[in-house]
Amino acid sequence: MSSFQFETPPRIVCERGAALRLASLLPGLRRVVVVTDPGVARAGLIDAPTAALREAGLQVTVFDRVEADPPEQVVLDAARAAREAGADSVVGLGGGSSLDTAKLVALLAATPQPLADIYGPGRATGPRLRLLQVPTTAGTGSEATPTAVVSTPDHQKRGVISPLLLPDVAVLDATLTTGLPPAVTAMTGVDAMVHAIEAYTTRRLKNPLSDALAVRALQLLHAHLPRAVAQGDDLDAREAMLLGSLLAGMAFANAPVAAIHALAHPLGSHFHVPHGLANALVMLPVLRFNLDVAGPLYAQLARALDPALRDADDAQAAQAFVALMSAHLDAAPMGRRLQDVGIAGDDLPTLAAAAMTVQRLLDNNPRPVSQADALGLYAQAL
Ligand SMILES: NC(=O)c1ccc[n+]([C@@H]2O[C@H](COP(=O)([O-])OP(=O)(O)OC[C@H]3O[C@@H](n4cnc5c(N)ncnc54)[C@H](O)[C@@H]3O)[C@@H](O)[C@H]2O)c1
Ligand SMILES: [Fe+2]
Repeated sequence: MSSFQFETPPRIVCERGAALRLASLLPGLRRVVVVTDPGVARAGLIDAPTAALREAGLQVTVFDRVEADPPEQVVLDAARAAREAGADSVVGLGGGSSLDTAKLVALLAATPQPLADIYGPGRATGPRLRLLQVPTTAGTGSEATPTAVVSTPDHQKRGVISPLLLPDVAVLDATLTTGLPPAVTAMTGVDAMVHAIEAYTTRRLKNPLSDALAVRALQLLHAHLPRAVAQGDDLDAREAMLLGSLLAGMAFANAPVAAIHALAHPLGSHFHVPHGLANALVMLPVLRFNLDVAGPLYAQLARALDPALRDADDAQAAQAFVALMSAHLDAAPMGRRLQDVGIAGDDLPTLAAAAMTVQRLLDNNPRPVSQADALGLYAQAL
């Protein structure tokens, strides 16, 4: 076995209602900033948790202006709010956009380094404020990853990557996710599946822990996504989705994602397609493109999902895997083609050129992707 390292949050709490006892999960806090977005606030999800924090004697400031694919300016505004409040801690409560913003708030409110200086891996030196992450989508797995993705004014998505961005506590409280609309459930669920698939097939840093987590994540997500979409208040299905999303996050935090995410990035930064949907739109063309190289790994995943494939040969099982994923997309209440989100054939060269700038993810793909390949993949997704 080749050597490897593995980094993950030091503490994970999976408990229904845990969002009502955040103060007890990280004792000693006095002034907390809750970072969220208007949709989550409107859904009433921060009311009870913030009331409970106040009851526990904490001073609470709410920053509820996070935007999808958080723009730099929003991150800076949130960090300023935390500094002005004299916060000692940050609670991220929401989807990946809120959790990513919360990570950077915890860092930027406590460190003199400007945001522009910390993009890329390992540039942040800290310190940071204490950090609790409470996901309300399942999801990005951001509560278990050392990455925060920010949209820059020049239409790029740039990542800050640092172990400092792992929270002190990740809190999975399924009761927060029962109101997630079916379309968002489906999109974010596909994102989580793609994390598991790309972690399992990544060319770099794949390791026995990420493999075990990715397989279990995909089993949970595959088995429970249809129920979570059809029956939003099914707490067992919601909890399984949150757990699957966390496990996939733990996996890809250490065995990084690849071409599906690289091709999805420009859809978000140029056309504001939600992250999960962007992944869903390019997933099948990339899976098929990778089949020649990653087929045996897809076959292993297929057998883990469907015992009936135990005796199938690799080629059959790999094809069956693509079909299983395709069935999830068919059943999901969301667009299937780039044209469904307003993208036209004329846009594809721009997208292919933009995808080439996401080299840090393309490098992880089992099969090399040229600009011509990217153009072809987008054309298949059109
Ligand atoms: N850090 C990482 O490792 C990582 C990984 C993947 C994606 N991301 C980032 O995460 C972001 C996407 O996150 P996301 O897909 O979770 O979407 P999101 O955070 O943008 O939320 C999507 C929508 O769902 C609403 N919402 C969230 N939870 C809800 C709930 N329980 N009930 C009702 N409405 C709810 C929000 O208000 C929002 O309108 C992107 O910025 C992406 O770049 C980060
Ligand atoms: Fe993702």
